[in-house]
Amino acid sequence: MKQKGMDTFSEKRVWVIGASSGIGQACAKALIASGAKVAISGRRIEQLNQLVSSPSNDQVLVLPVDVAIELQIAHAHQMILECWGGLDLLLFVSGMYVPMRADDFDIAIAEKTIDTNLLGPMRAVAAVLPTMLKQHAGHIAIVGSVAGYSGLPKALAYGPSKAGIINFCETLYYDLLPQGVSVHMISPGFVATEATAQNDFEMPALMTTEQAAQEILKGLQAGEFDIHFPKRFSGFLKFLRILPYPLYFWIVRRFVKI
Ligand SMILES: NC(=O)c1ccc[n+]([C@@H]2O[C@H](COP(=O)([O-])OP(=O)(O)OC[C@H]3O[C@@H](n4cnc5c(N)ncnc54)[C@H](OP(=O)(O)O)[C@@H]3O)[C@@H](O)[C@H]2O)c1
Repeated sequence: MKQKGMDTFSEKRVWVIGASSGIGQACAKALIASGAKVAISGRRIEQLNQLVSSPSNDQVLVLPVDVAIELQIAHAHQMILECWGGLDLLLFVSGMYVPMRADDFDIAIAEKTIDTNLLGPMRAVAAVLPTMLKQHAGHIAIVGSVAGYSGLPKALAYGPSKAGIINFCETLYYDLLPQGVSVHMISPGFVATEATAQNDFEMPALMTTEQAAQEILKGLQAGEFDIHFPKRFSGFLKFLRILPYPLYFWIVRRFVKI
């Protein structure tokens, strides 16, 4: 059995969480241009408002949300139901990245990272699941990262938060496939955004946010569970994770300056 893709985005009811910058903003713009009705969330209201072309535009719904606050997510979801009567796609993009190594391990940052990157999507999924299960249709798409495939240097909190996303999506898939609800696990490589601007190393196969958004929309249309890009980088990392640990650690140490 194969899960359904989104044949068109036109008139589809979409909720993009993390639409105020970077990959999420590019996805929101592309979805709006494709004719979808798009609810946009994030904490920075001014950034979200920039996506609304005119105040009378009812194609875009601005719903500020902090993903760490369950009540705000529930309220935003309720607003979507009141305005549109249902939801076709939850695209969860929000995330935070603070590079961290063992000699500066900060538990407060680690807790915040897990709260935003792993519990955040779980809160959003918990909010929309009753709607999608009742509809027997819909798409849940969550942005993880290739950093979740296996341990990488400097990702002491970020890596585990993204590894959790992989397991969460895989586990959701079993239950939602028979219900007609599709799950999409999105694993980008390096994309030029505010988050990666802090990296002090050369990022291989770096993409623009627009390219990333096109890959995501293409994967959603094809009904792919595993949306990963750019393939030459994500495919290489997928290969690395099946190697025995001594070889894996040796190769990563050679490629990454640590
Ligand atoms: N860029 C890459 O190379 C790369 C690679 C793999 C995966 N990713 C993932 O892609 C996603 C987007 O990252 P990006 O690179 O586009 O970075 P970005 O430009 O910094 O975007 C991060 C987004 O997350 C939102 N966000 C952060 N904390 C939030 C919170 N507590 N509540 C609500 N929204 C929150 C931000 O909105 P507000 O600040 O307005 O709340 C913003 O919209 C993240 O999940 C990231 O881990 C990125």
